Amino acid sequence: MDNKKILIVYFSWGRNTKFIAEKIHAKIGGDIFRIGTVISL
Ligand SMILES: Cc1cc2nc3c(=O)[nH]c(=O)nc-3n(C[C@H](O)[C@H](O)[C@H](O)COP(=O)(O)O)c2cc1C
Repeated sequence: MDNKKILIVYFSWGRNTKFIAEKIHAKIGGDIFRIGTVISL
């Protein structure tokens, strides 16, 4: 992974995916970005 940038992008409605994305981020670093909805659910 030399010279590679990491971006973790996720969409989470019930927080399960958020939890996993944050675990991955803590392990491998990089940037993390949450996809949201225009109208809050
Ligand atoms: C309306 C709805 C539809 C779903 N459809 C699928 C599906 O087609 N395939 C699947 O594997 N899981 C499906 N799931 C389960 C979700 O993928 C699972 O609950 C996941 O943990 C949700 O992540 P989140 O808590 O980050 O939103 C569905 C859940 C809901 C509420």
